[in-house]
Amino acid sequence: MGKHRKSWFVATTAAVISLSLSVVTLANTESENTAALEREAVSIVKRFAGKLKPQLKQAITAAGFEHAINVCSVEAPKIAQTLSEETGWEVKRVSLKARNNASATPDPFERDVLNSFDQRQQAGEAPATMKHAEVVANEFRFIKAQGVEGLCLNCHGKSIAPEVQKVLDKHYPDDMATGYLLGQVRGAFSLTKTLE
Ligand code: HEC
Repeated sequence: MGKHRKSWFVATTAAVISLSLSVVTLANTESENTAALEREAVSIVKRFAGKLKPQLKQAITAAGFEHAINVCSVEAPKIAQTLSEETGWEVKRVSLKARNNASATPDPFERDVLNSFDQRQQAGEAPATMKHAEVVANEFRFIKAQGVEGLCLNCHGKSIAPEVQKVLDKHYPDDMATGYLLGQVRGAFSLTKTLE
């Protein structure tokens, strides 16, 4: 009887230990997967910015801001689409004050994250370091802030040259994306991956 109880105890303890170990392993695998997804998202954002910015700068130097608007309105959505097709992620840019309100209007999740970015920026954090990753239902969502730099002010700032404003008015009659100050959050890259 004593021996029986002892072996029952040993078996139960072993089962409990191995169960908790597998829970820990599961949790670790999950956070490793999430970390890998985040690394992938970061590299896609880098590719996006790495393609867009040089094209934008080149167009500005070659033809001026009013013509460079084309790069933003034509090339940026193209880059987003190509990256989406190549990677299997949904890749876009969003903003609380969208210029392209057809493609850049945030969904409720993106809106919450963008609001929190604005609060963090007001509290003194630099947009360059702001990102948010989260599994929501069966999706992995990754949002990376884009801060306002000197260059951006020419098309998103408070005093925009009349010839630039004219082109903006023509393409974006409902433009909300002006009046920004240096260092504010202009918007974000938003990436979504559907999990199996
Ligand atoms: C030459 C003018 C120009 C400059 C300079 C410029 N943008 Fe834009 N930006 C635009 C236009 C035009 C769009 C709308 C693109 C579209 O139709 O998808 C846009 C859209 C965006 C969007 C997508 C959200 C939205 O409101 O539609 C973000 C984010 C953004 N710009 C950030 C920046 C940042 C950050 C900089 C500086 C590094 C910058 N832009 C510089 C013209 C410009």
